[in-house]
Parts: sequence; C-alpha cells; structure tokens
Amino acid sequence: MNTIFKTFSAIFLPVCILSLAACNHKAKNTSTASTMTDNSTPVTLPPSSGFEKTIDGKKAHFYVLKNKNGVQTALTNYGAHLISLAVPDKTGKLTDVVIGFADIDGYKKAMSAYYGATIGRYGNRIANGHFVLEGRRYDLFINNKPNTLHGGQKGFNDVIWDTQQVNDQTVTFTYLSKDMEEGYPGNLSCKVTYELTDDNAIKISYEATTDKTTVVNLTNHSYFNLNGAGNGSILNHVVQLKAAGFTPVDITLIPTGQIAPVAGTPFDFSKPATIGSRIEANDEQLKNGKGYDHNFVLDKHDITSPVATVTGDKSGIKLEIFTTEPGMQFYSGNFMPGSNTMPDGKTDDYRTGFAMETQHFPDSPNKPQFPSTVLKPGDVYKTVTIYKLSVGK
Ligand code: BGC
Repeated sequence: MNTIFKTFSAIFLPVCILSLAACNHKAKNTSTASTMTDNSTPVTLPPSSGFEKTIDGKKAHFYVLKNKNGVQTALTNYGAHLISLAVPDKTGKLTDVVIGFADIDGYKKAMSAYYGATIGRYGNRIANGHFVLEGRRYDLFINNKPNTLHGGQKGFNDVIWDTQQVNDQTVTFTYLSKDMEEGYPGNLSCKVTYELTDDNAIKISYEATTDKTTVVNLTNHSYFNLNGAGNGSILNHVVQLKAAGFTPVDITLIPTGQIAPVAGTPFDFSKPATIGSRIEANDEQLKNGKGYDHNFVLDKHDITSPVATVTGDKSGIKLEIFTTEPGMQFYSGNFMPGSNTMPDGKTDDYRTGFAMETQHFPDSPNKPQFPSTVLKPGDVYKTVTIYKLSVGK
C-alpha cells in the first residue's frame, strides 16, 4: 500500500470507498489517489496498481462499474473477484458492504476464505475428494481434509480470467477450464457477467458448456457486512430466508443426504431473526458448522422474488437475494481468521462478514437424491443471482 493511499485512508475513512479506480472503464495504473463526488458524499479512490499484474503469463486488471445513482463496484479478472460495492446507507453515506483487499497479494494471503471470489468448478464440498460419473471415478485434490472445497487446489478463484468489458455497467469474464484440470473431466468453457443495474443491484450471470460430461456448480463468495466492511460483528444483522428445509451436515460439513425441516430449529428464518439470536444454541448442526455453514433448500421460487433479505442493524442497508439456484449456503463467517487486513487497516475478524452463496447442494455428485449438477456436451449451464441493495423497508 503506498503512502499516499495510507494518508488518504486515514483522513477520509470511514467515508472513503476503497479499491475503486477511475470511473466506468478499466482503471489505468495511477500513482496518485483521486477524489470524486456523487450527489452527496465525497469518495476517495485508491490507485489500482495492486491489481495490475501478470500472473501465470496472463494480465490481471482492476475494473470499476458505476450506475446513474453513483453506486460503484470494483472487480478484478483475477479469480473474477468482486472487490468492493459502495452503496448509500440510511443517511446517504456511501458504505462499502463487501470485504475486499487492496491488491492481489491480499487475496492470495486470504485465499482459504475465498473473499468475493468466483468459485468453480464445484462450489462447496465434495466428500473425500472423489465422485463417480458415467461409471468412471474422478479424484480431486483434497484441500479441506478429508474433502475437496470450492474447486480444489487452484480453483477458479485463483486463475486469471479473460475480460470483455461490455459497457460502463457490465463486465464479462471468461475462463476455459481444461479437461482434467483439478481432476474434473471435460474442457469447461465458463462465462460470468457482472452487471451493476440502476436499481443498485449486482446481477451475476453464469454460463458454461463442456465437451465431456462433467459436474459444475458456480457461485460467488462475497462476504457482506451491511454496516460496512470491517465495521464489527454481523450477529445483529436481521435475516429472513424462504427455506423450509436445509441439508444437515456431518462433522466435516458434508451433507448427510437428508433434507431436514427448519421448523422449530435455529435454522428457521421464515420470520425475521438476527443472525446471533440462536447461533450459540445447543444444537448439533450448529456445532457441526461452528455456527451457520449450511445449505438451505430454497422454497419454490423464481428470479422475480427474493429468497432472502438481510438488513444491517446500524446502516439500515438491506440486501435482497434473487436466484435461479435451488440452494444457498448461509455462512456466518465462522472461520474468519482476523489476520487479513483491509485497505483501511481493518481486519477480517471472526463473524464480521456473512456469505449467501447461491448454489446447487454440496456433494451433489455423490448424492443422487439432490438436484443434478451434471453438465453434458450440447447442454448449457445457466444460472443467475442478484444481490440488490437498498435502504428502508
Ligand atoms: C464453506 C465454509 C468455508 C468457507 C470459506 C464456505 O462456503 O461452507 O465451510 O469455511 O466457505 O472457505
């Protein structure tokens, strides 16, 4: 982090929005910070040099999207990460609601937490790192003993994606995952598009095709703190979740295969409840997850109505999640280490962020009773998830 940035951070925090570069277009390397204003709030922008790097022979860059309301989001084609999302709180103050870092090194250091990453080829765990598909066994790298987590040793979060910037509010990243990369069959051609809409939503559209039968489960792993990244615990955030069931897990966080009703358990968020209200309950599943780290089986829905709503107790910022996916991993930041530093000096402390990872269910390749994650040649994998931010009711 350069001195100018440190100085600006110290002066303008908490109002400065970190990790944003020049408006609208791929940021150029800048050696000085710049200040821009929207209607109400000054925003200090750091240099983007931390993301302008060559990795594995491919170039990483930093991108900023901006909508007509002055809402901004920063992204990088390194792991197709969402770095920053600055939205107004109830007083109109722009607040960065996702945890992110100032440079690629920050992401590499915090890799096992997958902050803001695009996850693939398979989101969440595959039991004991193997599965059988069309009669053949495939062995994966075990990176979360005894299981494979979020794509294995070098998942989609740790590769450079190609970029096609569509317009000021949209960017598309593409990646070709080669046949047998991380042990998965088939050349998988992937596309993820981030669109910042004028109703202050991030719309993430995923697409993939393959030349051999494979499994695929892509998601985004952003950690939200709706009071502002680094601004304390998320335990007083209020959650409402439309899911009558969830998939209980064993001690290694692999689903047992059952779908259990949430009614009468700490997993019932059908009425609004704070994350913290029952998280310490004497409940076997909460113990296995060390908090919430479970796949919720979403009630029948389509992309037009939210499957979940979360509100920041201090900021009044409301997050609504819309998805075409059948499940969502609600993860309450139980493994956040506290050892990673954000650009403003704040750290990623225990339960200061939560993730809502829309997905197919964990370990589906070994659980024929779960919705299928198999993709065949000629078929197109397509999913959409929208994270919409607003204030008020
Ligand atoms: C998993 C957690 C894991 C976290 C970060 C979540 O999706 O379910 O168990 O600790 O990602 O790796």
